[in-house]
Formats: sequence, structure tokens, C-alpha cells
Amino acid sequence: MNAFTQPKDLVMPQPSAAQGFSLVPSAQSPRLLELTFARATVQAFCAAVAEWPVQALEYKSFLRFRIAKVLDELCGNTLRPVLLNSLMDRATGGLLVRPEGLNDVTQAEDMVKFATAVAHLLGRSNHDAMSGQFYARFVVENVDNSDSYLRQPHRVMELHNDGTFVDQITDYVLMMKIDEQNIEGGNSLILHLDDWEDRDAFFHHPLARRVMRWTAPPSKRVDKDVFHAVFDVDAEGRPTMRYIDQFVQPKDFEEGNWLTDLSTSLEGSKHKLSVPVPVGNFLLINNLYWLHGRDRFTPHPGLRRELMRQRGYFSYPRLGHQQGQ
Ligand SMILES: [Fe+2]
Repeated sequence: MNAFTQPKDLVMPQPSAAQGFSLVPSAQSPRLLELTFARATVQAFCAAVAEWPVQALEYKSFLRFRIAKVLDELCGNTLRPVLLNSLMDRATGGLLVRPEGLNDVTQAEDMVKFATAVAHLLGRSNHDAMSGQFYARFVVENVDNSDSYLRQPHRVMELHNDGTFVDQITDYVLMMKIDEQNIEGGNSLILHLDDWEDRDAFFHHPLARRVMRWTAPPSKRVDKDVFHAVFDVDAEGRPTMRYIDQFVQPKDFEEGNWLTDLSTSLEGSKHKLSVPVPVGNFLLINNLYWLHGRDRFTPHPGLRRELMRQRGYFSYPRLGHQQGQ
């Protein structure tokens, strides 16, 4: 076990009744829950945080937690336990979040604030080396000259975990749609580890725990290799993963071929979920036992998609760690 394990002593009070939002299983799977915020909640939040532009959140990181508090209070303090329960419950661990009324790129500032508030009820978003901020906004267009598959529209971005080539703990991944023009295809693809048909065969293989080298291309602005195994376990001994096909550097024939088999198996899983994410909505998943990727787009000269991501660690009240103990 290492720092990437799930806690057992989490305080998770059950709200008597959700206020300002609803939570239901998604059309794709009972593991992915749909969290919809009522328009009135979203409007009240945007009005309450209007005094702080996103730049204020960039400069003063404590304000990210203040806007989180504003949102939770608008929900009668019922939101935080629901978020923690959903993201840390092994049976689910994934949310499609739908703030009603946020659906146009002109509202991009409010979208970033709303997603930031939700993330900072769970923990804290890490510094993103690609953008130099706690979040990254980036554009996918019809033509791409970058050095990874992140922005390449005409091919599938294979299933992977985030945070594989950095030393930061990456418990959650948040992926928001800010804008879309002339888009056909390009759904998010996600797979829960417990749904992967070949999981146990790979998890019990001798190479599952072998420390491997992970290195990022120049655009990621990470100049140091990191070393870890593909698999680990959570507090209950269940498999977790830190894997990405593009950045693992197998040291020999044996590792290279095992990784190729693993990649082929993941891509061939029949339990991958294909999830359309409308503008203003975001996926929020537990990065330890959900893999994510993206389907290909239909080419179009005017194709444009803008995304925002945040990755971070969980932080929550623990039993026995209250003030004075
Ligand atoms: Fe990713």
C-alpha cells in the first residue's frame, strides 16, 4: 500500500435530504451517477461569487475553498457528504455533473468557478504544469501538431489514468466541456476497473507490481521521470491503477509485450462506457479505479472543442483527527 490507497476512517454523514441538486444513476451505468444542480442553485452561486473573477482564485488559493463553502451552503450543507460518498464508494466513484443553465462558452468563467467549487469540497486541485495554474483550459481542433494524443481529434485516445508521470497524488480527475463547434463523435470513454473482464489476470501477473519508468513529452513541462508499478491496492486490497500507454517506458522485451497485451485488453473491453458530455457539464471520477479516454471525432474543418481539467487529491474530516485530539 502507498499514499494512493483509499481511507477506512472517512466521516461520511448522510444528508437527510439533498437540497438544490438531485442524484440519479446515469443512462450508461449504475456506477456513473448523474448529479444535476437546479438552475436556481447555479444562478445563486454565480451571483454570490461574482465579486471574485477566476484570476482571484488563481492568485489566492484559499478563495477556491471559500467558493466551495458558498456552494455547499446553498445546498443546505448536504452536498459535501454526497460528493465524498460518491467519489470514494468503490461501487460508483464517478459523477456526470450537470449545472443547469451553464451551457454556453460565454459563461466559461462561471463554468470554471462552479467546477472549482465542486472539486474543493472533495480536496484540492494540483498545480497543472501544462498551464501553470490549478486548472488547464485547452482546445482540440481539426489540425494538430502537438506531441501527444491529447489534442489529436481523428483517433481514439486510449484508456489511461492521470497523474502517472508526476509525483503528486492524483485521486480525482475532473473534465469539463467549455465549448463545442462542428463536433460529431468524441464522446468520453470510461471504464471502471471492476468491470474490466481481464483485470484479475493482469493484476495477478508478476509484472503487475514491477516498478517501471514513466516519462512525459515536452508539452507537459515535466522534466523528471517517475518510477512506480502499474498496479497497487486500496485499503481493502482491491486493485488500483496508475497507467498510461503513451508515457510508460518498458525497459525490456518482457515489459513491452506485457504492456502491449494490457493495452489491447483494455481497449477491447465490452464494458467501456461512451458518455456524451454537453457544454457546461463535467465528468468527475476517482482516478484510482476509473480509466478514461476519448473516442475519435468525425473530421470537419471548423471542428473546435474546448475543455477544462483539474486533477487533485482528496482531503476530508477523519475520525479521531478532530480538533484537540
Ligand atoms: Fe487524461
